[in-house]
Amino acid sequence: MEITRVTVVGAGTMGRGITQVLAQAGIVVTMTDRDDESAQAGLAAIEASLSRAVSRGRMDQEEADLALSLIEVEAGFNSVRSADLVLEAVVEQADVKRGIFRTLDEQAPEHAVLASNTSSISITSLAAATSRPTQVVGMHFFNPVPVMGLVEVVRGFETSDGTVESTSSLARRAGKTPVEVRDFPGFVSNRVLMPMINEAIYCLMEGVATRESIDEVMNLGMNHPMGPLALADLIGLDVCFDILEVLQRDLGDPKYRPCPLLRQYVAAGWLGRKSGRGFYEYES
Ligand SMILES: NC(=O)c1ccc[n+]([C@@H]2O[C@H](COP(=O)([O-])OP(=O)(O)OC[C@H]3O[C@@H](n4cnc5c(N)ncnc54)[C@H](O)[C@@H]3O)[C@@H](O)[C@H]2O)c1
Repeated sequence: MEITRVTVVGAGTMGRGITQVLAQAGIVVTMTDRDDESAQAGLAAIEASLSRAVSRGRMDQEEADLALSLIEVEAGFNSVRSADLVLEAVVEQADVKRGIFRTLDEQAPEHAVLASNTSSISITSLAAATSRPTQVVGMHFFNPVPVMGLVEVVRGFETSDGTVESTSSLARRAGKTPVEVRDFPGFVSNRVLMPMINEAIYCLMEGVATRESIDEVMNLGMNHPMGPLALADLIGLDVCFDILEVLQRDLGDPKYRPCPLLRQYVAAGWLGRKSGRGFYEYES
């Protein structure tokens, strides 16, 4: 199935990035959020990102204008009725996502694919909240979306080949490389990444080294482009915390227990770049 109209639910860090790259690929996208203010904030961030790309010479003004002209924003779920694919990118909480999938299933056309950008929650359990489990799939983009080349395409227990194919083909049209993985908690990316980030936070808590030294070890010694603490700030410490909790609960293994220091940062509202403070401090 050729996908021409997409609705992205959630206008946060990921939703706005996904909306931008789909529009740049010529796809008509509506980005929705709980309220108009959040949706408009997402649109303003896309406008800023596109004008940065123009001023740095990575894009023509015409391309940026064309991409913007393909984006609409709204509060609520009106646009879902005419979508070929709906991509959910709200907070990493299973009950919230299941509620949204129930609504999407009621409102989306019969042929529509329902995809989630979840980092760790079971696609099979989201599919079970709908009457169309063969059309539910994980479409896991990476942050920052305009820059990162991967989309993990997550095949749930009942996801059909056709759904995996149309999702992978959409990812390719957006200039990304789709890699298919099975539906296990954290898939491949976060099952491998989050324990590393968590261990770096334990190193900080135990005073093994300073934040800068921990990041420098992984940066220079392992050739990682960014240290794990700086990466956690970029991802969002609340998102990291939620993913670790899913890994611990769903794989039933205490080795994924979120570090108590991470728990404290999240409780204090130190969420990383998006709140201006995490392991590092950021200008607003
Ligand atoms: N941040 C990352 O690096 C990253 C990377 C890959 C995947 N993800 C996944 O993407 C999803 C979104 O993460 P994010 O970092 O963009 O979060 P975020 O907190 O930046 O944005 C979430 C958005 O969802 C909106 N929202 C919450 N409940 C809603 C509802 N009921 N209806 C409509 N909108 C609602 C919020 O208002 C907010 O704008 C999560 O599942 C996360 O695990 C995040």
